[in-house]
Amino acid sequence: GLPARVRIYEVGARDGLQNEKGTVPTEVKAEFVRRLAGAGLPAVEATSFVHPKWVPQLADAEQLFPMVSDLPVELPVLVPNERGLNRALALGARTVALFASATESFARANLNRTVAESLAMFEPVAARAKAEGLRVRAYVSMVFGDPWEGPVAVPQAVDVCRALLGMGADELSLGDTIGVATAGHVAAVLTALKEAGVATGAIGVHFHDTYGQALANTLVALQHGVTTVDASAGGLGGCPYAKSATGNLATEDLVWMLQGLGIETGVDLGRLTATSVWMAEQLGRPSPSRTVRALSHQ
Ligand code: HMG
Ligand code: MG
Repeated sequence: GLPARVRIYEVGARDGLQNEKGTVPTEVKAEFVRRLAGAGLPAVEATSFVHPKWVPQLADAEQLFPMVSDLPVELPVLVPNERGLNRALALGARTVALFASATESFARANLNRTVAESLAMFEPVAARAKAEGLRVRAYVSMVFGDPWEGPVAVPQAVDVCRALLGMGADELSLGDTIGVATAGHVAAVLTALKEAGVATGAIGVHFHDTYGQALANTLVALQHGVTTVDASAGGLGGCPYAKSATGNLATEDLVWMLQGLGIETGVDLGRLTATSVWMAEQLGRPSPSRTVRALSHQ
């Protein structure tokens, strides 16, 4: 059966805004995060403590985080290494997200490391974060396919997932970075993870909607017992280091489907849609989300 409740993990302010060509003012980002929390989202990924030259769009993390850290929701931040963890700890972050890759090509493009070197980089970060009492999320990118390497073998992705859980990560997020996953592939990965002994409660899914498969993939994940689903308000998003990555699954599209299934999320769809319409005005272009368009006549 399907779960009674789903935890939506909102990535618009990070995955969405990291991919914008122009720089969004810090005040606008802070207002976006506040409105997302106000719409009932329980986890709002706020920013990244990465190298500012790698992701200039989020170079204002030090200014932004204190503007939202009073919010009564989980505010995870991305950290790639100890330098990033230090920056996050200095501002009182309580959840950090590591981001690994299932493929060598993307590990090189995104982290300037091999897969093994990047896991070695994460190990002391995870250990210290846990020792400091933080919650640790671990993304795995390119779980299904990679723009340079093509389809990714299931055991290759599972190995990286196991390594991250072995370091003490509380939760995985399975990244379909370029949106090539289809329902059968999602079922195969989730089945393999279960066979490897991974609890479904520790698995989140992170779909990009390039081929319009994100909702179908999500439904399959729910049928496999997954209860954490990443999504981006208004369908913002992509990854600057993965060509052909387009927006994430739109949070509104996800909420529409979950409401139809009678699954609780705590999200107010009207307030969320209004937030995405407002953000679209800030960015100067309409939201790609079908649900946002339908509900707002945008
Ligand atoms: P590197 O060049 O190998 O770094 O980059 P390094 O370790 O050699 O250090 C070089 C310099 O950078 C040093 O300064 C460090 O201090 C500094 P110097 O001593 O030369 O003056 N430095 C930092 N400064 C600030 N904050 C830091 C930091 N780290 C080092 N954290 C690095 C390696 C990991 C830093 C770089 O590759 C990087 O920042 N990558 C981030 C890329 C990124 O953010 N990508 C997008 C997020 S992933 C994604 O979108 C996918 C996801 O959505 C899931 C999915 O869809 O699949 C999560
Ligand atoms: Mg992503």
